[in-house]
Amino acid sequence: MAFPEAFIEELVSRSEISDVVGSYVALTKRSGSNIFGLCPFHNEKTPSFSVSTDKQIYHCFGCGKGGGVINFIMEIENLSYPDAVRFLARRAGMEVPEDGEYRENRTRDRILKLNRDAARYYYKYLRSPEGKPVADYLASRRISGKVARDFGMGAAPDSWDSLLKAMTAMGYEKRELLDAGLAVKNAKGGIYDRFRNRLMLPVINVRGEIIGFGSRVIDKSEPKYLNSPENVVYSKRRALYGLNIAKNSKRPNIILCEGNLDVVTLHQAGFDNAVASMGTALTTEQTRLLARYTKELVICYDNDEAGQKATARALEVLKDSELSVKVLRLPNIVKDGVSVKQDADDFIKNHGADAFEALLSGSGTSAQYGLAVIAAKYDFSLDDHRVEFLKEASRFIAGLTSPVEREIYSVRAAEQAKVSPDVMKQEVNRAIKSRAGYQKKKQTQMVQSPDRNAQPKERTIRYENIRSARAEEGIIRLLLMEYVRPELCDIEPEEFSSPFLAKTYRIIKTRLSEGRPVSMDALTGQLESEEISRLTALLQQPENSAAAEGALRDYIGAVKRESLKRAAEESGDLRQMYLNAKENKHG
Ligand code: UTP
Ligand code: MN
Repeated sequence: MAFPEAFIEELVSRSEISDVVGSYVALTKRSGSNIFGLCPFHNEKTPSFSVSTDKQIYHCFGCGKGGGVINFIMEIENLSYPDAVRFLARRAGMEVPEDGEYRENRTRDRILKLNRDAARYYYKYLRSPEGKPVADYLASRRISGKVARDFGMGAAPDSWDSLLKAMTAMGYEKRELLDAGLAVKNAKGGIYDRFRNRLMLPVINVRGEIIGFGSRVIDKSEPKYLNSPENVVYSKRRALYGLNIAKNSKRPNIILCEGNLDVVTLHQAGFDNAVASMGTALTTEQTRLLARYTKELVICYDNDEAGQKATARALEVLKDSELSVKVLRLPNIVKDGVSVKQDADDFIKNHGADAFEALLSGSGTSAQYGLAVIAAKYDFSLDDHRVEFLKEASRFIAGLTSPVEREIYSVRAAEQAKVSPDVMKQEVNRAIKSRAGYQKKKQTQMVQSPDRNAQPKERTIRYENIRSARAEEGIIRLLLMEYVRPELCDIEPEEFSSPFLAKTYRIIKTRLSEGRPVSMDALTGQLESEEISRLTALLQQPENSAAAEGALRDYIGAVKRESLKRAAEESGDLRQMYLNAKENKHG
């Protein structure tokens, strides 16, 4: 056992779940002992995330996530179980009893410290005579010394093991450099520096921790950009370059651009609200993080085809988020008759900060952008193009949630295609109806295959025998709610069809028989996150305590029947196999 049980119990009792969750989520609506708010784990507009002060659990009816307070911290802070326990202990002002194994295991803190020391090393190297090639590169990109300092930029030496030597001399293990992604191992087992002869761009989170590095070559070699690999502290789905600075910006929005050096150039030009995701498409994790610091996001991706596709994808991700979204469109530059890509960095260097400020204030809403993209596909001097435009535009407008927006953009599109607004509105209404028909169909499908036949929401949990698994879940639910005594459960885990439910049943039954508690927090250290979510979901389903013993008998009966069926099938199979084998031999 990692932490003493009594310690975990005290920790949990000093960490009221509504307080802990409340510091991340505005819990607004109360109903009985449940408080509701907007789920921090998926984008939604109406609250389906609930905290039960009775059961000390959280559960989202939308995405299915759930568990106790320790599990909540693991999920929201992206921490391992032991680190989540330490996190809560710090909050509750409790000393953590560490045994040897866990002291060794404090990888997160250790990697953060190593990253900081590595960043210092790169930082000094850039400012030493040996750092000149990288310093020259910065000068060629017109990046000032001040901005380079603000972003903690550094230089990786043109050598196979400079960082390894420097860090091991400071007491770090090679293993730790591998864990942090600062070193790599080749096929022969040799260990060497990952980043060599590169401009180093530390990625700093909103708490000021260096979670990883981006880096760029200073010549034409490949790969142009190389980033830290995923590890305990670095998750590219959550990382946003520049947010550590942008979060303090006085500007009314945040600008999301494509490249790290776009961010740098924008900051240098006075747009200290620029951020970039690190070589990935925008994720929901990033939109939630952004929503903590701003109400409005301005997308400013490159103006080439890739950039437009990325914009469309980002708008899709942002559809259900509470952020209001605008799109800043960088104009093409035409060189010798062909238009060439222009990113924010190019634009500022070509046209200056004032021109960018003008683009920023002129940036359109996502609906304006969507219509403009559609309009660009058509030639309005051709009648059939106008018809096609009207159809596509009305489908697009039908998808807007606000009636006011639908009205405004219907009129706009009508003006563009030179038809009367009434015709356009009719077309939009027709599109709305066909959307509604489609959604109704989907709903009917849901009703026809009701929940009890469906696989759980949690993707890692799959039931072989759903009928048996539902009954197994019933037994576990009654035990978790302590509606029945463990002695009444006259069934062995081996008779269960689902290995996950069998394992859970074994753990719970043992704990209850020994008189120990079975809260979600007590189970969090022993089960995977999705397993905890599944169990929390079970607790939401109604069960009548008065009829509990009868229900238990029914569940046990069902599981036993299915288990006997399985056994018969298996022995039948064996007999068949035996017969087949014999036939082959004599045939
Ligand atoms: P771009 O290739 O568009 O480059 O990559 P850029 O930002 O204009 O770069 P400069 O101006 O030549 O320096 C956009 C972003 O995509 C990620 C990086 O974060 C980069 O800033 N990327 C790009 C990678 O992660 N790996 C790559 O090999 C290339
Ligand atoms: Mn660029």
